[in-house]
Amino acid sequence: MRQPLVIGNWKMNGSLSLTSELLSKIDKAIDDKIACDIGVCVPFVYIDRANELVKKSAIKVGAQTVSEYSSGAYTGEISAQMLAELGCHWVLVGHSERRTLFNESNAVLIDKVLAAQGADLLPVYCVGETEADYKSGLTVDVIKDQIGALLSDPSIDLNRLVIAYEPVWAIGTGLTASPEEAQKVHAFIRSLIREKNAESAKQLKILYGGSVKPDNASLLFKQQDIDGGLIGGASLDADAFISICQKA
Ligand code: 13P
Repeated sequence: MRQPLVIGNWKMNGSLSLTSELLSKIDKAIDDKIACDIGVCVPFVYIDRANELVKKSAIKVGAQTVSEYSSGAYTGEISAQMLAELGCHWVLVGHSERRTLFNESNAVLIDKVLAAQGADLLPVYCVGETEADYKSGLTVDVIKDQIGALLSDPSIDLNRLVIAYEPVWAIGTGLTASPEEAQKVHAFIRSLIREKNAESAKQLKILYGGSVKPDNASLLFKQQDIDGGLIGGASLDADAFISICQKA
């Protein structure tokens, strides 16, 4: 049985005061009705404050990207070791906004997964097809390519990562894949991992992301291979995020 997981991705939003406000509300709401693991991936500059705030809580803090390099002359970059030192638990790798807006290729992303695992962070490797891919029926090919990159590197530990399926056309658009459609892709991802390692496939958490809201979360989370959600917009609203966690 995989413990459900809900992670909020704040993206480039928030402030120090919103960090305090959101995290203290979420922390207060965690009770027996919430039986899922909870994470928040905040902008780098709020990680320290966020960790201070959740010290006594079950919420675990993460970052939204990481450098593939360990140290050196890489102005502006943040290494996995630095994130670990700040107490990060997770790091998102390959979010579609990183893939498209910052041209991060599969090859770079695999190095980032390795860097994260090397610092004992749990990478949340994001995959998903664009609207054009979806409309051309290329979803399976895109997923095969993105997951294939992960599987092609034998140094990656498949027991120490989370995968998030986020159809790009569903991110921030109010559109979601239907629960059945999402389940199919999640099952496909798990089958690809199973070909490499059956035990890893069994315990692997695969999150769904893309316009998850309190009113569509239940049906998505009921699907056999959907182990929780990666939440964008709704994670900036404490009540909505708490409600999604309750549904998980
Ligand atoms: P929305 O929930 O705002 O669609 O964003 C999803 C996402 O990109 C999470 O990483």
